[in-house]
Amino acid sequence: MSAPTPLVASLVTLLASLSSDSADGAPPDSQPPALREVFAGKFDVGVGTGAVRPSEAALVTRQFSGITPENSLKMAHLQPTEGTFNFGEADEMAGFTASNGMKLYGHTLVWARDDRTPAWFLDDGGKPATKELLLARLRKHIETVAGRYRGKVASWDVVNEAIADEDEKYLRPSGWSDRAGEEFIALAFEAAHRADPEAVLIYNDYGVEQPKKRAKLLRLLRALKEKHVPVHAVGIQGHWEIDRVPFADIEATINALRDMGLKVMITELDLDVIPRGGWWADGGKKRDELAKLNPYAPACPPEVLARQAEQYAGLFRLFVKHADVIERVGFWNLHDGKSWLNYFPWRRTNHPLLFDREMRPKPAFWKVVEVR
Ligand code: XIL
Repeated sequence: MSAPTPLVASLVTLLASLSSDSADGAPPDSQPPALREVFAGKFDVGVGTGAVRPSEAALVTRQFSGITPENSLKMAHLQPTEGTFNFGEADEMAGFTASNGMKLYGHTLVWARDDRTPAWFLDDGGKPATKELLLARLRKHIETVAGRYRGKVASWDVVNEAIADEDEKYLRPSGWSDRAGEEFIALAFEAAHRADPEAVLIYNDYGVEQPKKRAKLLRLLRALKEKHVPVHAVGIQGHWEIDRVPFADIEATINALRDMGLKVMITELDLDVIPRGGWWADGGKKRDELAKLNPYAPACPPEVLARQAEQYAGLFRLFVKHADVIERVGFWNLHDGKSWLNYFPWRRTNHPLLFDREMRPKPAFWKVVEVR
């Protein structure tokens, strides 16, 4: 092939400069790409949110494959007292996803901690409910809820957060595990499968990338498998913190789940820029001090956003590498202003997501959409 003439060479340079990225990595004057299209064929990209406001609808429907209702399908919201069901908000969300061709990801049939369980579930006229009563109530709740959304949800987080954080404990201490051990977990999956045989059934938890919690997760999954309980996937919540993303541990958990023949969902991804781990360290001694910590109001420094962007990209490289088992990556909210990390575990101005408070893509967004 002959060398290009000077005219052709300068035309090539001109065209290249026209299509090159601007300084912040964003192509000039164009719609940002859609996450669901960038990762199409690899995994769904979801978002966890409450009712979608009119001002948010365009961004939600363009960027995401589906929605996890942030709170409206939880027990405490759906059945605050026995037999009284509040389906209004969840029905609206199911209507929104259906009319926009989006998936609905159900969250969650049992949140296995006492502070998230309506008191009546565990109580029988002032006495602790027996195992039989507790399990009968659980079965009924699941039949009602999973039955109502049968064929409308793509998946259910059937059981949420049942594994203990303490090294020496297996299941999280609660009315559920105290009275029914692993049995409530098995029953929940069986009831969900009967109520909606097509739904992908997920065990969902945080911290299951950590070796000790991973071992307990695998113990639970083996026990369920032995009893032929229909568990199809594990949801790794993915509430991580900047500069402390446990990449190798995450990969080890994904590999272990693949070996067990299970699918993986990243269900509640966010990257806290004001790490919160200290809140639980040293018996809570640092809480008074932390409660005053609010370094990034009103803005997050560019160098922090750049580090966050790199770490988000690292996560997506890992997810793409394991796209054979990862079926969905879901963010825990639409934009920074709506994240639960602005008020959990203390009030602060946080910046954990890909879109800022004005719903503009952040540096992390542009790094993530470059990942292939
Ligand atoms: C959070 C919601 O984001 C908050 O609005 C609510 O007040 C508490 O729950 N793990 C889960 C989610 O499984 O359901 C939690 O969502 C965040 C931690």
